[in-house]
Amino acid sequence: MTNPNTSKTALITGASSGIGAVYADRLAARGYDLILVARRADRLEALCAQLTKTHGIKAEPVAADLTKDQDLARIETLLASREDVQVLVNNAGIARLAPAAQTSANDALSQIALNITALTRLTQAAVPAFVARKQGLIINIASVLAVHSLPISAIYSGTKAYVLQYSRGLQQELAETGVKVQLVLPASTATELWDLSGVPLAALNKDTLMTTEDMVDAALAGLDQGETITWPSVADASLWDKYDAARAALFASTQAGKPAPRYNIA
Ligand SMILES: NC(=O)c1ccc[n+]([C@@H]2O[C@H](COP(=O)([O-])OP(=O)(O)OC[C@H]3O[C@@H](n4cnc5c(N)ncnc54)[C@H](OP(=O)(O)O)[C@@H]3O)[C@@H](O)[C@H]2O)c1
Repeated sequence: MTNPNTSKTALITGASSGIGAVYADRLAARGYDLILVARRADRLEALCAQLTKTHGIKAEPVAADLTKDQDLARIETLLASREDVQVLVNNAGIARLAPAAQTSANDALSQIALNITALTRLTQAAVPAFVARKQGLIINIASVLAVHSLPISAIYSGTKAYVLQYSRGLQQELAETGVKVQLVLPASTATELWDLSGVPLAALNKDTLMTTEDMVDAALAGLDQGETITWPSVADASLWDKYDAARAALFASTQAGKPAPRYNIA
């Protein structure tokens, strides 16, 4: 049995490759024991063995398909019951990049199931446990496409816009609880996601592509600096402040109770 007084554990989804695997390494280096979740058990086992050896932490592979109800339920139970779990990294995600009309129902719904439903269910499972303990950290991985739609990203952008709004709402709800939510919005990062997405990694402009190590190190530096929303590749941080101020002003102007004068409705 794990002693919650002596161990702190991070549960990372999508840890078998890419960004999630680097989070696993960096959080292990910070002394966290790990629960690593993804479908490819062989990869998770190899990573757990390597991180245990390198960092002297405990690492547990948990094979799960987070688009399947029963697998999600297992991870929910784990999050709700394991007192040592202090960090949840909602990283698992897929992109299927194609015009919406040419996207199969399966490709559309699997993005929604993983990027939205799984992230929501795991967060909802963790929050009450974290709030009861007055501590905890949830890191939600969105994307810069949360604020931008391309002709091939209507569904993917929509799923990431959900992660943005859900995380921003949660941050307000949890402000006084001791539970933190960090929202991370990576730009293009060199991972396996691209070749599976329909847009090969090799087709991207290399100047716009970040390494997974740089992405995660910047996101964790943002966390250490107290950021609640982290744009790892954005040099001018005031751009987000201006965007958010414009959003707030737009919302405030919707509260008028009557049609705008330009519609000429008496
Ligand atoms: N790469 C980018 O340019 C970029 C940019 C912005 C945001 N992001 C976001 O970053 C996150 C990580 O993606 P990545 O770029 O690191 O891609 P990746 O290397 O393909 O990693 C995706 C991870 O999700 C897991 N996964 C996929 N389907 C799953 C399922 N049904 N159940 C459980 N786990 C599943 C994969 O493991 P298994 O296949 O073993 O299940 C893998 O570990 C995603 O949320 C993505 O949207 C990526």
